[in-house]
Amino acid sequence: MGSLMHSAVESKRLRTALLAGLLLLAPASRAVEPALIGDKTHGAQLWRLECAGCHGDGHGFAEPTAIGRALGAHRLRDPELLEARSDDDLIAVILKGGPGAGSPAFSHYNALDAGDLIAWLRAGLPSLQEVFPDAAAFTDKRYTLSGPALTRAENLAGGELSAEEHELAVFMVYGNERPPMGARLIAQDPVSLDALSPKDRKGFVVFGALKDAHGELQPLAMGLANDFSVLKLVPAPGLDLSKVAPAVVGKGGREPGKRKEFISKAAPAQAAALTRLYARAVEAIAIASKEESDRHLFDQPDSSAKSGAH
Ligand code: HEC
Repeated sequence: MGSLMHSAVESKRLRTALLAGLLLLAPASRAVEPALIGDKTHGAQLWRLECAGCHGDGHGFAEPTAIGRALGAHRLRDPELLEARSDDDLIAVILKGGPGAGSPAFSHYNALDAGDLIAWLRAGLPSLQEVFPDAAAFTDKRYTLSGPALTRAENLAGGELSAEEHELAVFMVYGNERPPMGARLIAQDPVSLDALSPKDRKGFVVFGALKDAHGELQPLAMGLANDFSVLKLVPAPGLDLSKVAPAVVGKGGREPGKRKEFISKAAPAQAAALTRLYARAVEAIAIASKEESDRHLFDQPDSSAKSGAH
């Protein structure tokens, strides 16, 4: 008697399994077929039911709850974390648990549920692609400022930097032709890094946080050009940087003498916060680009000698 219903359930299962298979087969990328883009409204519902207990209500950066923190959970709606993870990485964490002992396995979910959660997690966050729409590849490495670099950063920032502010992840962005699958994250191993040519470097991205009109911290991306000037600011939707942007974009440079405090009569607090971020960013990218030119010191003299030792 239940056979009709049974087969309807079966065919729904089959369809879901097929879609899930497609999603899992898709290469690491956010540029999935439109039909497979996650449903962030459904993702938000699942979040409230199953994730909020540890990862918080999802406001702003999604600060973890006390329980989540005790277990070792970090902020999840953090572009710095999410840029470093492919959709496949995130689907694996959700379905299988991890990466450490932390997140439980949601094995009763299918990949579509996981995709909906990811769509919700990524929704509205400033991204590397918004700074460099034609990025083909990028690297991600965290630097800790110390010694003269820290002193210079604190001088420009106009005060002491907290231990947390000594650290900053730098995304170096390469390439001119955006591959159809989106920009690729290049692993921090010597062979993969060697394949990236300094000539193809488009610039750098760092992520920071600024208070919005309600005093809530919101993420932003700061793009820096190869000459270390500020190329672009990409705020989260709740954050308005239009008043401060003229005082920041195009400013700064490779020479420490060119780096001055950003001053904006219209948005003095934002200008001060962005000076702090820039002061850390410019020292971190100086280390990153020194590492890059050291890697290419012995390249063919015709190709990139100019970007080398001098
Ligand atoms: C019992 C608490 C708990 C619940 C419930 C929970 N998580 Fe987690 N989650 C953690 C902890 C703890 C970590 C960090 C520890 C680690 O890195 O293993 C984490 C880490 C993560 C990460 C980050 C992995 C990374 O790459 O750094 C993601 C993504 C994640 N959880 C997603 C989810 C989603 C989505 C849900 C709901 C479907 C969820 N978690 C439910 C505790 C939880």
